[in-house]
Amino acid sequence: MHEAHEQVASSFNCHIGRQTFGPRLIEMLKELADMSRDETGGVTRLLYTSPWLSAQQKLMTWMKDAGLEVFFDRAGNLTGRLQGTDPDLAPIVTGSHVDTVTSGGDYDGALGIVAGLLALIELKERYGMPIRTLEVIALCEEEGSRFPTAYWGSGSIAGHAGWEDVAPLQDREGISMLEAARDCGFGPDSSYAEPARQLGAYLELHIEQGSVLERANLPIGIVSAIVAQQRYRIQLQGEANHAGTTPMDHRKDALACAARMILAAQAYALEAGDGLVATVGSISVSPGASNVIPGGTEFTLDIRHAEDAELQRHSSELLRQFAAMAQADEVSFSSIRTLDATSVPMSPQLMDTLTAACCREQLVFRVMPSGAGHDAQMFRHVCPTAMIFVPSRGGISHSPDEYTSPEHLILGYSVLTSALHELGYGGAGVE
Ligand code: HGY
Ligand code: MN
Ligand code: MN
Repeated sequence: MHEAHEQVASSFNCHIGRQTFGPRLIEMLKELADMSRDETGGVTRLLYTSPWLSAQQKLMTWMKDAGLEVFFDRAGNLTGRLQGTDPDLAPIVTGSHVDTVTSGGDYDGALGIVAGLLALIELKERYGMPIRTLEVIALCEEEGSRFPTAYWGSGSIAGHAGWEDVAPLQDREGISMLEAARDCGFGPDSSYAEPARQLGAYLELHIEQGSVLERANLPIGIVSAIVAQQRYRIQLQGEANHAGTTPMDHRKDALACAARMILAAQAYALEAGDGLVATVGSISVSPGASNVIPGGTEFTLDIRHAEDAELQRHSSELLRQFAAMAQADEVSFSSIRTLDATSVPMSPQLMDTLTAACCREQLVFRVMPSGAGHDAQMFRHVCPTAMIFVPSRGGISHSPDEYTSPEHLILGYSVLTSALHELGYGGAGVE
């Protein structure tokens, strides 16, 4: 690191931040979660729903109160900008996704947004204008919980996804994504700016959602890579018939066939080992009456592996097995791939920036892969990208029981703030 840069970086005193801004982080996270609480005690904030819009409006108010330049784009991504003295340098961006799974936890996505906003508040208060513009983005959608797509927020900014890809997609009630966006004031013909734009670097603070850090009793993870992930919609069509009069050897039972496939997917992944995971997370049955043999079923398959080629090999083999099972049951079979995300290594130089921040903070960390997908994997294709993890209690996430201790949340916050300080005020170059 060059002299000036080292001085700037070492001038960052983390303890002020932790004591002054740490409690605010905990309060703001609770306030954001409480406003989207559902009847299970979990957090449900699905894209373009009113809990989603209320949360974006709350974040917009917080950003405006902080004196940031605030703007939405046509997809509904919300940005708070702390303008730098050198306007020619592309912005250093932090943030995460504001949407959640159904009955999710308080921290998945929200932590990256609130910590990023507070980091800009702290840095502005303590150091004034940065050299490089710093931004925090509340990305509109990452989970794919309402519409059969994912990473729409980061994908639209990174230029990977456009309205032509998503507009016709429908939720379970048959509402199109375009219609839902327009109901919230967004969409391709809204007055907001186009999402696609150039970023200088992207840093994301996120809960680990696994138990590696907790088992190792470590406060911080620096992500090395995000695993490859494919998602499919599997549709089976058998023959609805009378449950009482149809002999067992005369049935084309789509649900029984799906059940065999689901167990086959579990057995296949267990047998394959090597970090392969396969999950059937949702299923629908038609007509769905107790005295009717199910004529149709549709279920989702989520399958992941650290290596692209291995994931492709496993998913092809599993779908081949499904097709053979459908044929044996005289049930028609179709699969639609709704997501194909390759594995993404994080940026070595930005990982070094996080390592340096952990050293300044005197925090022990582990470099580790992410089994969960993240917005960072979309940005990695367009700018230097890195992620910070904090531990998840019991490795639980996507659940109302998701929990990370205030101490760990605040330590993750201080690593993020220290790294943003170096990148924004130290004039540190990134790739
Ligand atoms: O599914 C995932 O890995 C992420 O939480 N969306
Ligand atoms: Mn998630
Ligand atoms: Mn997430």
